[in-house]
Amino acid sequence: MRSPHSTPSTWDRLEALESSERACPLALLFRQVLQPIGLDAFGELLQIFQGLMRDGSRLLAHLKGELRSNGTDGLPAQVTASAGMDALVHAIEAFIARVATPLARGLALEAARHIGRSLEVVCCESGNTAARDDMAIGSHLAGMAFANSSCCAVHALALPLGGRFHIPHGVITGCFAGEMMRHNSPACAEDFAALTAALGWGAVDGAAFAGRLDAVADATGLRAQLRRFVVPGDAIATMARDAVAIRRLIDPNPREVTEADATRIYRAVLEAA
Ligand SMILES: [Fe+2]
Repeated sequence: MRSPHSTPSTWDRLEALESSERACPLALLFRQVLQPIGLDAFGELLQIFQGLMRDGSRLLAHLKGELRSNGTDGLPAQVTASAGMDALVHAIEAFIARVATPLARGLALEAARHIGRSLEVVCCESGNTAARDDMAIGSHLAGMAFANSSCCAVHALALPLGGRFHIPHGVITGCFAGEMMRHNSPACAEDFAALTAALGWGAVDGAAFAGRLDAVADATGLRAQLRRFVVPGDAIATMARDAVAIRRLIDPNPREVTEADATRIYRAVLEAA
């Protein structure tokens, strides 16, 4: 409904914009937002939005102050590695998930920028507080990303394995990321290119992306950690069945993961560790 306080000339201009093929997004805004609520209400919304932006800026400034590494300073390297690699997997899966929103994808790429330049540094330089701060921000952004998207099959396979054998979550996700991304590769060429650029890994194809994840899992000591746990081969079939039953994580995965796929991936990772 047109607001009684709106000026006809403004509406005339908006109507003219609506009829212009070159102004489609603005026409959509006009038809779906301005016209139903009226210009006065829209003005109020703008004020609210401006207030939110101001509050958001303050919140970001606050987060930057709070998201410092104090909570992780002094943690053993293994904990740093598993938590950091899990954050990387959060960013990757949030970005490639079928349900990823534009907001999630933007957050995931920004998370990848922070994590890519800092993950391996914090694992070998425990006193590097600048890198730890960077990881804290990257980890937080990755969490915001998957909150607006989903984690995927790496996490589906991680749950039965971690639950049964009490293996740290990040050790599993870090070690399984490479093999699962190898599986996802046919469906993710463009996404992997965007992620590798954000991570600062240069231009690599899907296979190289998976290989790089394996290399990070090696370099950060995650494979060595996984090797310490004994996982009987006869547990794999049950874990594969349980993993693919977790539809909230399997369905968003960019490529289907069958029980046979899950079995193969479990075997490949556990035998390589
Ligand atoms: Fe995780």
